[in-house]
Amino acid sequence: MKVIHVENPGPDYRLVPGEAPMPQPGAGEVLIRVAAAGLNNADLLQARGRYPVPPGAPELLGMEVSGTIANAGDSGLAVGAQVCALLPGGGYGEYALAHESCVLPVPRGVDLVAAAGLPEAVFTAWTNIRDTGRLRGHETLLVHGGTSGIGSIAIQIFAARGNRVFATAGSAAKCAACLGFGAARAIDYRTEDFVAVVKEETGGVGVNVILDMVGGRYIQRNIEAAGLWGRIVNIAYQDGTRAEVNFAPVLVKRLTLAATTLRGRSWEEKRAIRDALAREVWPLVGSRIKPVIDRVFPLAEAQQAHAAMAQGGHIGKILLSL
Ligand SMILES: NC(=O)c1ccc[n+]([C@@H]2O[C@H](COP(=O)([O-])OP(=O)(O)OC[C@H]3O[C@@H](n4cnc5c(N)ncnc54)[C@H](OP(=O)(O)O)[C@@H]3O)[C@@H](O)[C@H]2O)c1
Repeated sequence: MKVIHVENPGPDYRLVPGEAPMPQPGAGEVLIRVAAAGLNNADLLQARGRYPVPPGAPELLGMEVSGTIANAGDSGLAVGAQVCALLPGGGYGEYALAHESCVLPVPRGVDLVAAAGLPEAVFTAWTNIRDTGRLRGHETLLVHGGTSGIGSIAIQIFAARGNRVFATAGSAAKCAACLGFGAARAIDYRTEDFVAVVKEETGGVGVNVILDMVGGRYIQRNIEAAGLWGRIVNIAYQDGTRAEVNFAPVLVKRLTLAATTLRGRSWEEKRAIRDALAREVWPLVGSRIKPVIDRVFPLAEAQQAHAAMAQGGHIGKILLSL
């Protein structure tokens, strides 16, 4: 089958089309004929040699796909069913293996290719904001990186569920996109202070939950922007993993600081997230919640797709189509 190989892993890596043997489903696995694969920052880090592949995961890049079930294995799923799935790796090819615990149907109203932009974003947004962040119905949410693949879905899910969502982004056009996703207020972090804005918008109270992928200089400012009993959940530290922090407001406001990763979790943990998504989010996907697709590149142009992601002008997801 056709795949994309990483040559010369490191800062000057090359993504080149090649061949690989067709994978065979093992216990609990299904084989998907891939329609499209979603790009993730972890793919770029892995190709640069800065993200070791978890034990047992395929060496090929690609953590999410959409497509049709080609071999259902022992899963009970139907051959030919249109699905999207979170993968431990191996999505940049004609066929990919998924564990049945990480498979969701393509929702009605969502194009098969576009569905490849859903799994990583919905799993990450849901588990960090609901499970770790414990956001409840009446509470406020601040999403940093509002036009990222994850941010664009997080805003839509929680705005649709009735939460008041604030979002940060790095340009007026990106802020306009955040408002389109349902944010009550979008904050251009290049021209506005997000701490001052959320304080003003909440009558000085601060926000209940913050989803952050920036870290670094945002760590102290998130602590300032959070309200009493606030929860701050980091999914990345793009501005750095180190900061000098005054923890006094953490104590005084009884805050929780948390950070999680998704890729290395057990099938049982991923199944629990998948089941919650199927129950709580999937009924809204296709109508109130839509994957936000910036660009679709042919698989053979994976190198150009990575360059577009690294450049950072995108709004939503970049996909590779087969
Ligand atoms: N922990 C987990 O389980 C998990 C899972 C998936 C992804 N992630 C991480 O989550 C992040 C988002 O993933 P994605 O695929 O959605 O990426 P993406 O679409 O490439 O988005 C990256 C976002 O980060 C924002 N950003 C970067 N540096 C910033 C800074 N200094 N200040 C403010 N904003 C900054 C960008 O905002 P602007 O363009 O507006 O500047 C952009 O919205 C990545 O770092 C990824 O590695 C973590």
